[in-house]
Amino acid sequence: MEFNIAVMPGDGIGPEIVDQAKIVLDKIGSKYGHVFNYEEVLMGGVAYDKTGVPLPQETIDICKKSDSVLLGAVGGYEWDNLPGELRPEAGLLGIRKELGLFANLRPALLYKALKDASPLKPEIIGDSLDICIVRELTGGIYFGDRGRLTNEAGEEAAYDTEKYSVSEVERIARVAFEIARKRNKLVTSIDKMNVLESSRLWREVVVRVAADYPDVELKHLLVDNAAMQLVVNPKQFDVIVTSNMFGDILSDEASMLTGSIGMLPSASLSDGKLGLYEPSHGSAPDIAGQDKANPLATILSAAMMLRYSFDLEEEASAIEAAVEKVLDEGYRTGDIASKGTKIVGCAKMGELVAERV
Ligand code: NAD
Ligand code: IPM
Ligand code: MN
Repeated sequence: MEFNIAVMPGDGIGPEIVDQAKIVLDKIGSKYGHVFNYEEVLMGGVAYDKTGVPLPQETIDICKKSDSVLLGAVGGYEWDNLPGELRPEAGLLGIRKELGLFANLRPALLYKALKDASPLKPEIIGDSLDICIVRELTGGIYFGDRGRLTNEAGEEAAYDTEKYSVSEVERIARVAFEIARKRNKLVTSIDKMNVLESSRLWREVVVRVAADYPDVELKHLLVDNAAMQLVVNPKQFDVIVTSNMFGDILSDEASMLTGSIGMLPSASLSDGKLGLYEPSHGSAPDIAGQDKANPLATILSAAMMLRYSFDLEEEASAIEAAVEKVLDEGYRTGDIASKGTKIVGCAKMGELVAERV
């Protein structure tokens, strides 16, 4: 089969890690008889530098007619003083909204070989961890009204608004319950209902949706407690469903339990087959251009693309098995290295995975 993929290398380590995902995809293509056509598009700081905006219309148009989108990461110090709407991150939020990517799946999976890379004690982490975070991605405080004003005391102030509608909560809750059904049948919904009205609505709606899934257990946690529970007893979780901002924060926390933020892939999904696939981490400007980045989160995101956008389950599993094999053989990028392992750079890691596909 033939697939058209819009590729956004982005900024910082983005181009380095995306290159590795393409090498692995091409190996899948030659092994299983598929053709992946890549069309490079501008988004993020690189788009701002070349066109004056972080998300050019041409990028949106190409993404919409592609079969899926692959993204590295965006952002960096050099764009930190731009107004909000011109920042690289605004490009990312814009493309998520344009493509209707309301469901962000972030699977935090600990590979056995990486037990020692997890900062948790062996008796807490054991030798496996498998949590799927389902993060709402096109609503909440990321997309609510925001602005600056002068308050009653004549002082400059700023505000951002968290807002959720019933249908927004309903559709993300359904995604979480459907996933839980195919896993360990437990959904933990995380909110801040003791303070926020939007969280009280969130909880009401999730409880209503749960009635359609009597085979799945539903638990609730307040977000502050959840952040603590993730490090004290991470094995209690199966599927986590939460709002845009809480999901952003908790997924970085969960990623570290599996050894590194460089291990956490993500799939941003819409109602249809079009999805955007990107690692959960950022552009890591501190290590950009040094061949030090861990490309595995991006490679694993490409596997999610095969699974969710192209229905190529066998090929997706082949990538995941190749990653596992490379780790079992002791190869590590710096972020996941431990005593007795073999440290390799970003490009070598991509090559090793491709060879084992
Ligand atoms: P970051 O995720 O870029 O980096 C945090 C730390 O993790 C850094 O020490 C970095 O070196 C390390 N790290 C991240 N990815 C790694 C990898 N693949 N391999 C090895 N180490 C890795 O977060 P930050 O520093 O807070 O943000 C930097 C920029 O990235 C900001 O402009 C931010 O807005 C942006 N950002 C973009 C995305 C995205 O494009 N999806 C996500 C998060 C942050
Ligand atoms: C992520 C990132 C983005 C987010 C930023 C860069 C807009 O942190 O994908 O996790 O907060 O969603
Ligand atoms: Mn984030």
